[in-house]
Amino acid sequence: MAIAGVLRPGYVQIRVLDLKEALKHYVDRVGLDLVDKGPDGRAYLRAWDEFDRHSVILREADTPGMDVMGFKVATEADLIRYDKRLKEAGVKVEHIAAGEQPGTGRRLSFIIPSGHRIELFAQMETSPHCPPTENPDVWSEEPRGMRVVRFDHCLLYGPNIPETAKLFTDVLDFQLTEKVMAPHGMIGAFLSCATKAHDVAFIHSDEPAKFHHASFFLESWHDVGHAADLISRYNISHDIGPTRHGITRGQTIYFFDPSGNRNEVFAGGYLYYPDHPTRVWSADELGKAIFYYERQLNERFLSVVT
Ligand SMILES: [Fe+2]
Repeated sequence: MAIAGVLRPGYVQIRVLDLKEALKHYVDRVGLDLVDKGPDGRAYLRAWDEFDRHSVILREADTPGMDVMGFKVATEADLIRYDKRLKEAGVKVEHIAAGEQPGTGRRLSFIIPSGHRIELFAQMETSPHCPPTENPDVWSEEPRGMRVVRFDHCLLYGPNIPETAKLFTDVLDFQLTEKVMAPHGMIGAFLSCATKAHDVAFIHSDEPAKFHHASFFLESWHDVGHAADLISRYNISHDIGPTRHGITRGQTIYFFDPSGNRNEVFAGGYLYYPDHPTRVWSADELGKAIFYYERQLNERFLSVVT
């Protein structure tokens, strides 16, 4: 297997103020399927092209934000190896028993220097509604809403960007695909565990553990336009787009769920291979790096996080 160790983002657990409202947004508008509601009240969802049981977890809480982002590793041996390496790097690792998330194996859970909780797991049940594999149609049931293909990545805001990037590259075997450099050091890090332009990204903020957005992949630039139509038709709170990123080159639109958590749906972006160099942006070109067409940042994109 050419891709080993950490395979991909597996799940994100998002806090929402009203679960019913959130489900209407994520199921009817974004287009995720509701898998079930766990006995703990959390709702489990997945996108139509994902094999695993769930990829988005909604937890009703008093404040919005992200509880945790989980990454799937290839084998149980990887879990054992990363447990050892994390401990050697001075990271405190908690062990969560199999089944705490329905259909999910045991997990390693730890806090990274940016303040976010990250988890690793090796096992998750396959969804009974997973994509067909024999003489496969493109989908079993016609995609709905924004027709999101998969949960793709998160952008997280927090301090200690160089230390956070170092943990991902040196301990978890990620590659730094792009970085944003200010005169005093790195303020943005885009990290890939396989061949996507990013699987997780970090931007500096003084406040730790902040959630900027969860992002879902679309098949085409045309689908970004379709998402924009739905955002207007249903008066979904809009942030910016359709536009394009300089960093990763994705074609994108941003909006908010009813609790104020930012979502992105995007298409495109380049493929990254481990022999590619890190692309470097200077902080004075951050506008173009983030919004390639506007070439300037809007204040909301910089300051509104949950
Ligand atoms: Fe993104």
